[in-house]
Amino acid sequence: MITQTPRTPPGPLDHLEVGRSILPASAYTEQVAFDSELRDIFQSRWVWAGFEHWVAAPGSSRPITVAGQPLLLARDSDGTLRVFHNICRHRGIVLSEEPSTRKRLRCPYHYWTFNLDGSLCGTPYWDRTKNSGPDEQTRAQLGLLPVRHTVWAGMIFVHLGAPCEPAEDLLAPLTARWAPYNLDSVRLAEERQYNIDANWKLVVENFLDFYHLPFVHPQVGSASAVLDVEDEVLSPDIIGACYPRGVTTKASGKAGSALPLLGDIPEEMRTRQDIFCVFPNALVFLEPDFFQVIACQPVAPGRTVEYMAVFVAAEAGADRHPEAGAADRYAEARESACRVLFGVNDQDVPILAQLQRGRSSPSADRGHLVSHWDQITARFQTLVAEATGRH
Ligand code: FES
Ligand SMILES: [Fe+2]
Repeated sequence: MITQTPRTPPGPLDHLEVGRSILPASAYTEQVAFDSELRDIFQSRWVWAGFEHWVAAPGSSRPITVAGQPLLLARDSDGTLRVFHNICRHRGIVLSEEPSTRKRLRCPYHYWTFNLDGSLCGTPYWDRTKNSGPDEQTRAQLGLLPVRHTVWAGMIFVHLGAPCEPAEDLLAPLTARWAPYNLDSVRLAEERQYNIDANWKLVVENFLDFYHLPFVHPQVGSASAVLDVEDEVLSPDIIGACYPRGVTTKASGKAGSALPLLGDIPEEMRTRQDIFCVFPNALVFLEPDFFQVIACQPVAPGRTVEYMAVFVAAEAGADRHPEAGAADRYAEARESACRVLFGVNDQDVPILAQLQRGRSSPSADRGHLVSHWDQITARFQTLVAEATGRH
């Protein structure tokens, strides 16, 4: 039972009396619960939508799906990134189905064309004559519909709902905590996409479950080291944990030449590992020399797509050495770190499917959250319960 609502006050960790799971098993399996989470969470808050490097080049675009809605990331020729509803303004067909480097996107149905700033440019046979088009006022009203968005630490967040708090306010606790890190200039080391046979909430809960680390991922360090973790609540929406003393072997790219630090990081922060969920769907893991993101998009009650990316300091990025014409001196360290980090995630994939299968049994409702370990899970479930009106 929750004895104190974690939303007030935010900040220091108030110990929760936990016991039975706050969310019933049906919240992980039923379509009605899934639909309400899309509506009340994913369409009503800031959510992770994609990586900025997906549209790195001016003149590139990429369709994405957020909360079941087709969106379009587009960077126009002057480098401005925008997010649109990926819907043709004529008959509502999905406009773009593939990543593209075309300066104009052409609707497959009647060949209207749109610039990457969203403006409508071509409307063939508008009035049944060649080269005709709408008057300027009509044309101006028929641009692609924009989506509120922000870019932070290489990630694109969108808000599909009504006016809301600025994303900067939501992210402020992390921005302050990570001030010494140059997260705006990190470079991709590697990314992978995973199709997960589990509800999106299990992906988040598993990321916030530090208890399983020595058992599912014994390679990451001794049990005493991996369990030396402290719960952290930076705000109602940013919850996770910190390894203040580090787990030295965790991403041991540290064998061989080390990766450069992600900034001018003070000595006392150099052994620190931070692991946070930016509610609902951005899972971030920061060490002094790498930044890992696992973001999830719900597809169905038992199906989630995970986008995992590992970033390193600009000078150690995988794209760096060819242009410099020099040897890639960080290749070994970068690849070693990625091998460990993706290896850990690979081990979680079958666990997630097994957790999901467990929720088809009524016995799953008799699970017991442990006060010593499941505080952050309880907070996450409480956030979901509050947002969807289950409280
Ligand atoms: S639906 Fe796109 S041009 Fe008609
Ligand atoms: Fe895990």
